[in-house]
Amino acid sequence: MRLVVTGAAGFIGSHLCDRLVADGHTVVGLDDLSTGRLANLAAARKSKAFSFSNLDITRPELADVLAKERPEVVLHLAAQMDVRKSVEDPLHDTRTNVLGTVNVLDACVRSATPRVVFASSGGTVYGTPPKLPASERMVLHPASPYGSAKAAGETYVAAYQRLHGLAGCCLRLGNVYGPRQDPHGEAGVVSIFAGALLKRQPTRLFGDGTSTRDYVYVDDVVDAFLRCLGGKGDGRRLNVGSGTGTTVRALHTAVARAVSAPDAPEFAPARPGELHSIVLDVGQARRALGWEPTVGLEQGLAQTVDWVRTGR
Ligand SMILES: NC(=O)c1ccc[n+]([C@@H]2O[C@H](COP(=O)([O-])OP(=O)(O)OC[C@H]3O[C@@H](n4cnc5c(N)ncnc54)[C@H](O)[C@@H]3O)[C@@H](O)[C@H]2O)c1
Repeated sequence: MRLVVTGAAGFIGSHLCDRLVADGHTVVGLDDLSTGRLANLAAARKSKAFSFSNLDITRPELADVLAKERPEVVLHLAAQMDVRKSVEDPLHDTRTNVLGTVNVLDACVRSATPRVVFASSGGTVYGTPPKLPASERMVLHPASPYGSAKAAGETYVAAYQRLHGLAGCCLRLGNVYGPRQDPHGEAGVVSIFAGALLKRQPTRLFGDGTSTRDYVYVDDVVDAFLRCLGGKGDGRRLNVGSGTGTTVRALHTAVARAVSAPDAPEFAPARPGELHSIVLDVGQARRALGWEPTVGLEQGLAQTVDWVRTGR
């Protein structure tokens, strides 16, 4: 297939490009390199089936690029993805994550692109859910501009499907981790712990260590995107996580074990506004996409630690 990936030079986008090229697709990667790195695309760029365009998704030229490339699916991952930055500078977040997403959807319609898959956020759109695991049927209560922008993006995807017939699927990703992840953002804690523990530097947990997240390995997330290419996810919003909650204390223990370092974090006060716990119910993704998380935490952490150890 001919595909466009926005946010291609980022953590998840670059893994997605690698896999799409390996599977024989023709891929155009778009990224403004604001946080992404061309080095992440070193493998994909060796293939004739991959090309890269340095482009900001909020620019009007995006429509020209899509009109020229005529993709069958746009996989939209470009975003300002740091929750704390969205609180500090909500307008910047809105520009990229809302206006940018609308511009992507509009460019899809203008170029007669039939389908879009949108990277939403299972870790932030629900806010603090009334019970765990959070299911897609729950009302959304985002508690940050980032979460609000992702929720808005989902409603635009649905509106463009109704208004223009642009088929769309929204994948609500859990806390994605794996090689190439910068130590910032929603799930950067894995690379923060791994980097510090490998250098035998102190590590710090905010709060009492009981706060819980749904850590999902990047290859499993890539697999969920791939399963949407043919239309199985059209019209749906699907949680993509491990389905299992891991406390930050248990995560520290697991990373320390993978690194063979002492498991002795320091504790600091909880950061205001931070969500306490989220775990995603992934039953709908299982049923709709035939998707299954396959990489357990121990295996995923071992691969991530290997990457951190070998100098990133
Ligand atoms: N990593 C996670 O745990 C997680 C969880 C839920 C959702 N997501 C979503 O998945 C997507 C990918 O996240 P990631 O972890 O790979 O983050 P990332 O920051 O590594 O990747 C995002 C990419 O988008 C690019 N970008 C930012 N603004 C842009 C713009 N205006 N125009 C073009 N490109 C732009 C960045 O340069 C970067 O390469 C994002 O939409 C993010 O919100 C990530």
